[in-house]
Amino acid sequence: MVEPLVHMRGISKAYPGVVALRDVDFALARGEVRALLGKNGAGKSTLVKILAGVERPDEGEILIDGKSVALRAPMDGIKAGIATVHQELSVVPELSIAENVFLGRWPTRGGRVDWPRMQRDAHDALALLGLHLDPRQPVARLSVAERQLIEIARALSQGARLLILDEPTSSLVAQEAETLIRVVRQLAEQGTSIIYISHRMDEIRKVAHSVTIMRDGRHIATAPVADVSNREIVDMLLGGTQGEGGTARAIGEPGRFSPLLTISDLRVAPRVESASLEIRAGEVLGIAGVLGSGRTELLQAIAGLRAAEGGSMTLAGRDFRPASLREARANGIFMTPEDRRGEGAVMMLGIDENLVMASWGSVSRGGVIDRAAMRKKVAASIRSLGIKLAHPGEALGNLSGGNQQKVVIGKALNAAPRILLLDEPTRGVDIGAKRQIYQLMRNAAADGLAVVFVSGEIEEFCEVCDRVLILRGGCITGEVEGAAIRTETLAEMTTGEHGVH
Ligand SMILES: Nc1ncnc2c1ncn2[C@@H]1O[C@H](COP(=O)(O)OP(=O)(O)OP(=O)(O)O)[C@@H](O)[C@H]1O
Ligand SMILES: [Mg+2]
Repeated sequence: MVEPLVHMRGISKAYPGVVALRDVDFALARGEVRALLGKNGAGKSTLVKILAGVERPDEGEILIDGKSVALRAPMDGIKAGIATVHQELSVVPELSIAENVFLGRWPTRGGRVDWPRMQRDAHDALALLGLHLDPRQPVARLSVAERQLIEIARALSQGARLLILDEPTSSLVAQEAETLIRVVRQLAEQGTSIIYISHRMDEIRKVAHSVTIMRDGRHIATAPVADVSNREIVDMLLGGTQGEGGTARAIGEPGRFSPLLTISDLRVAPRVESASLEIRAGEVLGIAGVLGSGRTELLQAIAGLRAAEGGSMTLAGRDFRPASLREARANGIFMTPEDRRGEGAVMMLGIDENLVMASWGSVSRGGVIDRAAMRKKVAASIRSLGIKLAHPGEALGNLSGGNQQKVVIGKALNAAPRILLLDEPTRGVDIGAKRQIYQLMRNAAADGLAVVFVSGEIEEFCEVCDRVLILRGGCITGEVEGAAIRTETLAEMTTGEHGVH
């Protein structure tokens, strides 16, 4: 057998209260693209962090080119030719795009930073991903998806032998994800090995030669992609504990929901020009649009996070113009942001505190926290969302990415809103947990909430929405309802592939 590029042998890793990896073996050949699959908390990120030198194993050995190596720090990984895009974004918002792409390795000339070269190279690295931005721009102004692309450009430009992509497409829409997949395949053809972590099954089939499935910190199986069906993969990663079970979509006669928030000609800089729509109680409403169509801006204006520059909103018959997040919340409007690390949650605080953070009132009496009530509420959230944790009091930052996301949603649901705005709520969430979240959205709507759902994955709308609006060119340009919500229809309407805009 040809010697693999990397070989991890007998890797184990425990954190207080959790065993993240148990005796895992993992080998990868040159030019091989391996998809790494598993439920939230299965140990995927931990495994690749060990390979990147970010975490150290308790036990086990790593061989590169057949030689045992000690990866004690991220720099060791980079020196060994391993480039990583970590699950949580690590761009520095204050720095420019170019400075971020070449973070830690700015090109120099005669002892000084060679700015023109850095800008040129950054431009080329981004162009490869179909991103045409001025490399001098600060990253702070960019959307989460654009930041993710910059992070990817950074890893690609390192010319590594092994590229690790931990959920690289989680905030990208179809087109950007396609571009990335193309680039990954090209790199593999040139001999680069790639580890690709993703919860999107269709993507795995397009990009990977082989799959490794993990469950509860264990290696379950490794096989060529062509040899396993989706059904088999799902069974292996869920461990046969969860059945198929789709989400029950309400069978709607149009017009059965009552309008709660009416928005007319809303203008929200820079992308939303004139959006008119109605948000109705009891309904899950999807908002579809390509990257940069203004989906997030629209939600933010409703949530009081961004000022609208024109147009009007009417909430339950009254003029509504939230000047702050607080004002929107006082009116029962709650939003979960796409970037959970930035705005959604506090990583240093406990999981329990995060869950009740927006609903202290419901677990206190006379201004004093009722510990028993809090425990009960926290336990209920953990159960209904299926959050995998060691202890409710542990820091949120210790949870796996998908489990952090569930906490962010739990926090919003606990706030008992009238209107729930969810910006990419299933980002980084595994297939089983996605169904749970869809079900929670359906339940919330059945309880009379208005649920507004933004996703970059069009297929998701078909699973859960009663109605979908298309945001294009700054306006709502289309609407689809009930059984007419189909992937092809929505894809066409958002990109305008057919017909003229
Ligand atoms: N720094 C840490 N401290 C404590 N526990 C941790 C830490 N990092 C990871 N864990 C735990 O280790 C387990 C595996 O986490 P890991 O992040 O590897 O999962 P994952 O497969 O990447 O999941 P996801 O799909 O949600 O990203 C989880 O139970 C997680 O809570
Ligand atoms: Mg992870």
